[in-house]
Amino acid sequence: MPAQTDSPQVVSRPQIDTRPRALLIAGEPVPAADGATFDTVDPAVGTVITQVAKAGPEDVDRAVDAARAALAGPWAGFNPDQRQRVLLRLAELVVEHGEELALLDVIDVGRTVAAARYLIADAAELLRWYAAKARTVRGQTIENSRRGELLTFTVREPVGVVGAITPWNAPLTMAIWKIGPALAAGCTVVHKPAEQSPLSALRFAELALEAGLPPGVLNVVQGDGGTGAALTEHPGVDKISFTGSVATARHIVRASAGSMKRLTMELGGKSPNIVFADADLALAVPAAGAAIFTGSGQICAAGSRLYVHRSVYDEVVAGVAEYGRGLRIGDPALATTQFGPLASREQLDRVLGYLDVGRAEGAEVVSGGARLTEDGLGEGFYVPPTVFAGVDPAMRIVREEIFGPVVVATPFETEDEVVALANATDYGLAAGLWTRDLGTAMRMTRRLKAGNVWVNTWGVTDPAVPMGGFKLSGYGKDLGDEQLDAYLETKAVALKG
Ligand code: NAI
Ligand code: MG
Repeated sequence: MPAQTDSPQVVSRPQIDTRPRALLIAGEPVPAADGATFDTVDPAVGTVITQVAKAGPEDVDRAVDAARAALAGPWAGFNPDQRQRVLLRLAELVVEHGEELALLDVIDVGRTVAAARYLIADAAELLRWYAAKARTVRGQTIENSRRGELLTFTVREPVGVVGAITPWNAPLTMAIWKIGPALAAGCTVVHKPAEQSPLSALRFAELALEAGLPPGVLNVVQGDGGTGAALTEHPGVDKISFTGSVATARHIVRASAGSMKRLTMELGGKSPNIVFADADLALAVPAAGAAIFTGSGQICAAGSRLYVHRSVYDEVVAGVAEYGRGLRIGDPALATTQFGPLASREQLDRVLGYLDVGRAEGAEVVSGGARLTEDGLGEGFYVPPTVFAGVDPAMRIVREEIFGPVVVATPFETEDEVVALANATDYGLAAGLWTRDLGTAMRMTRRLKAGNVWVNTWGVTDPAVPMGGFKLSGYGKDLGDEQLDAYLETKAVALKG
């Protein structure tokens, strides 16, 4: 494996507060009841950053009690304008502490500092959107056909205590996608960040207190799947909002059945990106590269299956491989780095496992394909941008979500053929297509089975635009107007005068 860059190097570590971290319950930092802790690891160098309190069932209990008390307490008295003001103040604090928050995610999961800074700006924008949404909660007056003087109308009420269970790939963004609408709706929250990325969640919750959120409205219980399971099973939790794997989602659906919790599930995908013969390749090729290699491929809506019209197939596949080879790989803390390590040792093992599977299945390695261990990368979890060609639809690398910088490329001849290929997946999060023909764009948009379809672009998210999948990619939406609905109950009232 030749060097991918001049000299990929991990030279400097961000200066962050490395004191052990506590849980945050009822506004107070507290250790776990049994004193348990876990290590969080810097994936650029493979070493322990610090220890984090690990919440057990007793701690989850206390956090849920605090959230229930806050729901009935001062938070219930916060009018929409007051909820809006807290969220706007929190957005300001996120900007003021942006560099600190960005570096926590850089060191915890290896996101490049450039991406982390962008995501902080985006986080503030999200909070301003949710602040606006706090003022939009409304029911309806409904004309009824009963005889007599009867007024019928609906009121919207917060669903209650929300368990937010988030993944490690974009820690702060995923946290805000859940906490933002919950607070806008008047809910309270117990947040369980991923065990690979616990640091920014706690700092964010501290800033929320500083912004004027009453203690207990946002609690943080760090820990692993066991902590998440305790939250999911807890009868005092009314809703779970989850982003992560299908396997864990199935556990959550089963475990939540006892108290019939409301669920929002965002579960990733195996999203097709389709390049037609008439596409503007100068745009489509780098975008196809960015669709899979951004965040080292650890993005729920990564463009991990590339379908290219046969007439431009060789050119596009070579171009995407070249794009990958051109990325500056190295220390995520350097502003010039474009491609960082995978977020954890488990993810490294998982992605390397898929590279072996691909080779064993007979796929052709066009570029990348093996762990990077050049001088300077040391023990970091680096896998280079990888392109597989010569694949067929039955292969595991074509069917399963790898969640790494690995794209599988397939040529096609006709529109019908590529629709069938693109939809031949259990997932349905996103799909993209590149064409200059409006007819092709319109037909394809209708025929692709995915929650988000991007035409001549990829990965567009906006607070006002819903995001969420079909099929195994989950149910319910993050972002958009639909999202707020999922944090509200509807109460229908009939009033006789
Ligand atoms: P995961 O789904 O196990 O973890 C996500 C969150 O769920 C974490 O906070 C975890 O602690 C929690 N969790 C784990 N088991 C739980 C349980 N029984 N009850 C409640 N919560 C539980 O995902 P993991 O293991 O980190 O990654 C495995 C694969 O999942 C990735 O390779 C990727 O394919 C997919 N994934 C998809 C994401 C997305 O954005 N949709 C994000 C993260 C992972
Ligand atoms: Mg970590």
